[in-house]
Amino acid sequence: MNVCVIGTGYVGLVSGVCFSDIGNRVTCVDLDENKINNLNNGIVPIYEPGLKELVIKNTNEERLFFTTDLKAGMDDADIIIIAVGTPEKESGEADLRFVEAVAKSIGENLSDYKVIVTKSTVPVGTNRRVKSIISEYCGHEDFDVASNPEFLREGSAIYDTMNMERAIIGVESQKAGDLLTKLHEPFDTTVMVTDIETAEMIKYASNAFLATKISFINEIANICEKLNANVMDVAKGMGLDDRIGEKFLSAGIGYGGSCFPKDTKALIQISGEVEHDFSLLKSVIEVNNKQQQRLIEKALNRFDRLEGKNVALLGLAFKPNTDDMREAASIVISEELVKHGANIKGFDPIAKDTAKKVLPSEVMIAESIDEAIQDADIIMILTDWQEIKDLDLNKVAALPGKPVIFDGRNCFSLDYVGQFDLEYHSIGRPSLVE
Ligand code: UDX
Repeated sequence: MNVCVIGTGYVGLVSGVCFSDIGNRVTCVDLDENKINNLNNGIVPIYEPGLKELVIKNTNEERLFFTTDLKAGMDDADIIIIAVGTPEKESGEADLRFVEAVAKSIGENLSDYKVIVTKSTVPVGTNRRVKSIISEYCGHEDFDVASNPEFLREGSAIYDTMNMERAIIGVESQKAGDLLTKLHEPFDTTVMVTDIETAEMIKYASNAFLATKISFINEIANICEKLNANVMDVAKGMGLDDRIGEKFLSAGIGYGGSCFPKDTKALIQISGEVEHDFSLLKSVIEVNNKQQQRLIEKALNRFDRLEGKNVALLGLAFKPNTDDMREAASIVISEELVKHGANIKGFDPIAKDTAKKVLPSEVMIAESIDEAIQDADIIMILTDWQEIKDLDLNKVAALPGKPVIFDGRNCFSLDYVGQFDLEYHSIGRPSLVE
């Protein structure tokens, strides 16, 4: 099949590359000339395991193309996928400017039947709006619109796409449903065809539910701390019940990233518009905001004042295996540490350059873990990168400042840390004091 993907952000680029890898002819379109030139030369704008290799492979095998010319990209396409950004407005609402602009351009260039699929996360009802914009500009109705939400996670985006657990296809016509089902056949996945509004809602409901699971276990963690229980074992015990499941029950310093914070706020906004007060989801967000401050609270309880303390922040990305720092806890935590007058050194295996742009200028970015921790009084672990989980605690115990560890991701078992001469505070587990 011929597929045109508009927007080469995370979702667009990964989907385009994967659709080409399963044998389709895919043209990815973006307004950003620099990005397109780079992609044509095998330079990938984001860090995502396996992505660069697949871009090069499928470009060389002439199944994958990059262009800034929308008309050329969509002319031969059977399916056009809209995957442009839907940033968050001040009100929490999704900003649909880019989706609407793309719909207009598609309408201006649409001559024969195509299925226009929205992959961007958009409020319920947006696909109908896309349809009316396209028909306004093309002057006919010989096309279908569809919703095909994306569930990939950053850091494992290629794996998640190639091994998707389900494809949700929201359509109005059998013809569009059949075409999109065929497109997904090589993924050997469960395809669920539904109406458009339901497909749009499945995306928001899924992300809101996962965010709820995280805030729930973080609340349990906070209670565990007061009761001397161990939240990791509580989560394990809960997860043995199939109805609950073990995933997304890792307590920590809250969720970040480009999806959960934005989509939870957008769903509250969507609910508000139909006069429903989604109070449960409001609490999920409130719990998450507080949770991002947990390590600061713990450090203040332990030290009273953080002024002049040397603090090493280990892991700056919002989660491992990505350089993305959108809504990362490291931002909130470093801003708070700056207010308290601490001296901060941050380290991240991949997100160093992003960190230099988004963290307060007072934060020094170290080139290695050793450099970050060498004169630390406090070590805060913010992201559970493998390199951080492999940290040699013998070395930490031998440091001159005898740093106190505040582990926001429960990277080490208490039994393991107990073998060292270290003070260790984590989330939802008893503290270890020398
Ligand atoms: C998420 C969804 O998983 C994905 O389906 C959707 O399409 C986009 O949003 P992503 O933001 O890439 O993906 O990351 P994810 O792995 O879901 O983690 C999100 C955040 O939750 C991270 O900050 C992570 O550290 C945190 N998290 C996750 C927890 O704190 N505890 C957990 O148990 C799981």
